[in-house]
Amino acid sequence: MTLIFAHRGSAGTHPENTMESFVAAEKSGADGIELDVHLSKDGEIVVIHDETVDRTTNGKGFINCLTLNELKELNASGKFKTFQSFIRVPRIPTLREVFEWMRGNDLQCNIELKNTKIMYPLLEEKVIQLIRDYQYENRIIISSFNHYSLVQCYRIAPEIETAPLYSDGLYMPWIYARAIHSKSMHPNYRAAPDAIIQEAMNEGIAVRPYTVNKEIDMERLLLIGCSAIITDFPEKAVKLRKKIGK
Ligand code: G3P
Ligand code: CA
Repeated sequence: MTLIFAHRGSAGTHPENTMESFVAAEKSGADGIELDVHLSKDGEIVVIHDETVDRTTNGKGFINCLTLNELKELNASGKFKTFQSFIRVPRIPTLREVFEWMRGNDLQCNIELKNTKIMYPLLEEKVIQLIRDYQYENRIIISSFNHYSLVQCYRIAPEIETAPLYSDGLYMPWIYARAIHSKSMHPNYRAAPDAIIQEAMNEGIAVRPYTVNKEIDMERLLLIGCSAIITDFPEKAVKLRKKIGK
């Protein structure tokens, strides 16, 4: 069965990378969530996409120049400006908060290390320590566009699955994935033709294309039995999977 991973939670309908978005993903029947991590000024692992808070919050500045307390004051509603503000203001979660919430479900979690522009000291070590503290080794996939970082993760924790992110057409990407000790790969869906996905899966490499939001693309991937899809619209994907029986 093709698994459905909710990209930044249910980011198409809720403020991305917030608890509200992750809870919505769980409610939609997704099998997993995808989220992005950076380090705050005081070294906390925080869940947010960009290097700055400018786009997704009412604040300004680089994440690694703000303390966790400062980050926690921000409204993370992003483009959903007034999202549930009458109930509770969405905040930037820590990875630990997400892991606490995961105690109450059996979702998988794809952690994307956002360390291509800023090299956060000890990001890999801190993320892996937290995974081990919660004994989530079998529920986590670590991905990144920084493939050196994935090799570093493998060296520290060979038991945790890693997956290279890429957006252009790699030649025989399953060989590359194996070369960097990854058991899976996360291509942009436009760089993942059926034949490449099927060959990779035949070679034992799981394929989870991102970010698959249109029904026509979801359907193609569901019909070929792709390992998983990463989507902003998990509810739509779950309904479609039911409809076509995959
Ligand atoms: O993990 C897939 C996808 O999230 C990678 O791109 O920019 O949405 O983090 P981005
Ligand atoms: Ca991501």
